[in-house]
Amino acid sequence: GTIINRTGKERVAQQIAAMVKDGDILGVGSGSTVYMALLAIAERIKTEKLSVLAIPTSLEISMFCSKLGIPLTTLFEHTPTWLFDGADEVDPNNSLIKGRGGAMFKEKLLIASSPLSYIIVDESKKVDIIGSNFPVPIEVFPQALLHVEAGLKKMGANSIKLRPAVGKDGPIITENNNLILDCRFDAIGKTMERDIKAITGVIESGLFMGYDLQILMAKNE
Ligand code: A5P
Repeated sequence: GTIINRTGKERVAQQIAAMVKDGDILGVGSGSTVYMALLAIAERIKTEKLSVLAIPTSLEISMFCSKLGIPLTTLFEHTPTWLFDGADEVDPNNSLIKGRGGAMFKEKLLIASSPLSYIIVDESKKVDIIGSNFPVPIEVFPQALLHVEAGLKKMGANSIKLRPAVGKDGPIITENNNLILDCRFDAIGKTMERDIKAITGVIESGLFMGYDLQILMAKNE
């Protein structure tokens, strides 16, 4: 249930907030677990007068940081000291599915740009086989939609859904003005992330395989 889940998420969020040091450039992912960590970090910034800058991965996280008084910067100006982000699935090899919130392109760019990446999840995100619960979100340049769909079918996709918008007719438009396909495969092999990315018109996928990640997973008791 949600109450139990909140406990696990809150615990990893507190763990992250305790790791922040004066002068850190924090890469900030997206999602509810990240939100909780930001609340705790803002509290430390206030009480301990820490000087910290955040590099956000979505509009909602930018707005939340500003509301909490956490100053923002960009990848043009700074490299993150370290980052924290959530995930939708984590398998035993630390492969991830991300992108429930549609922010996976900036999240992957930030992970690629950061020397140290913490993934904060509760154990509800744990899967034996990646793709068990969530489809793989794929950000697609709009005019490439049919080409990408054909390519994904060739790769063995058994379900491809254009993600619908909420509160507006038609599909979701990402912050980068692209579309999202939520895609299920019979099996997700080792080369899948690269194979998806190799289709012209794919901006990025929410599949993360082989990254150097520190997974902090809190048990729900
Ligand atoms: C955002 O696009 C996602 O990648 C999130 O990081 C992921 O959905 C985790 O969100 P929660 O912390 O809300 O579960």
